[in-house]
Amino acid sequence: MLVTTKKLLAQARAKGYAIPAMNVNNLEAIKAIISAAEKMRSPVILQTSEGAIEYAGIEYLAAMIRVAASGKIPVAMHLDHGKDIRYVKLAIAHGYTSVMFDGSAFPYAKNVALTKSVVKMAHAKGVSVEAEIGTLAGIEDFVSVEEKDAHLTNPDEARKFVRDTKCDALAIAIGTSHGAYKFTGKTHLDLNRLKKIAKLVRIPLVLHGASGVREDLVKLAELHGAKLGEARGVLDQDIKAAIRLGVAKINIDTDLRIAFTAGIRESVDDLPKVIDPRKLLERSTLLMREVAMRKMKLFGSAGRAR
Ligand code: G3H
Ligand code: 13P
Ligand code: ZN
Repeated sequence: MLVTTKKLLAQARAKGYAIPAMNVNNLEAIKAIISAAEKMRSPVILQTSEGAIEYAGIEYLAAMIRVAASGKIPVAMHLDHGKDIRYVKLAIAHGYTSVMFDGSAFPYAKNVALTKSVVKMAHAKGVSVEAEIGTLAGIEDFVSVEEKDAHLTNPDEARKFVRDTKCDALAIAIGTSHGAYKFTGKTHLDLNRLKKIAKLVRIPLVLHGASGVREDLVKLAELHGAKLGEARGVLDQDIKAAIRLGVAKINIDTDLRIAFTAGIRESVDDLPKVIDPRKLLERSTLLMREVAMRKMKLFGSAGRAR
């Protein structure tokens, strides 16, 4: 059933697990994730970026997610990284249960002002808001401690930001980054910073850029011609620690992309006589389902759907 994002996240933070928030662009990903959620009895958030909306059209995405949510599993529908207010308005108009307003690229005061106006607009329609403070970048992207401090989320600023904007969930920067190349050296998250933030901010915290970049799937994709180089993601043990410290929503896109890519490449290679797109997409769907199931186990959301 379609449920509010706010309720899903409140339960997760209170009970110490995290809801998987999976980026979707097409039917195959939506079906794979819902099938995983049913199997694992896990609540799930299906989220679409501005790019996903441009690609598929919000009418198609909202309709497909509604159908996906028509079963027994609690499903929430979320706008990921709304940067343009136009998409926030579109998502609210199409029945999304939450929106993210990402003003993290703006100076603090402008981020507060814009987030506040989104919160007012969204709350008037019963839609909750995720906001972001800090820059998503790998820790070793910063050359000095000062630079790192200026980019990662400042705990006191986070407390003030939540108080001033009245946002419902907060995306924080502790050293993760989007995509398949998160770390050049050893993987490392600033869990100490997260601990401080979690003490001061009681609303659910959100971890972006949290894909693990599984070696076996990278290898499978490369076996079939992909060139992914030094792809590297977040360790499972760091994800577990982040959840223990208060992260209640974890965003995954890259791991689904790698699974999709590995599956389609393998199928095209192995089935040279097949032209039926349903057959060519089958392996991708299965691999995305398997990725989603593993996340539900890892995040502790498995078995939480009632
Ligand atoms: O946070 C970014 C997500 O991976 C979405 O990526 O904007 O290419 O759809 P996208
Ligand atoms: P990954 O690129 O690590 O999957 O992160 C996705 C994300 O944060 C979407 O908002
Ligand atoms: Zn993100």
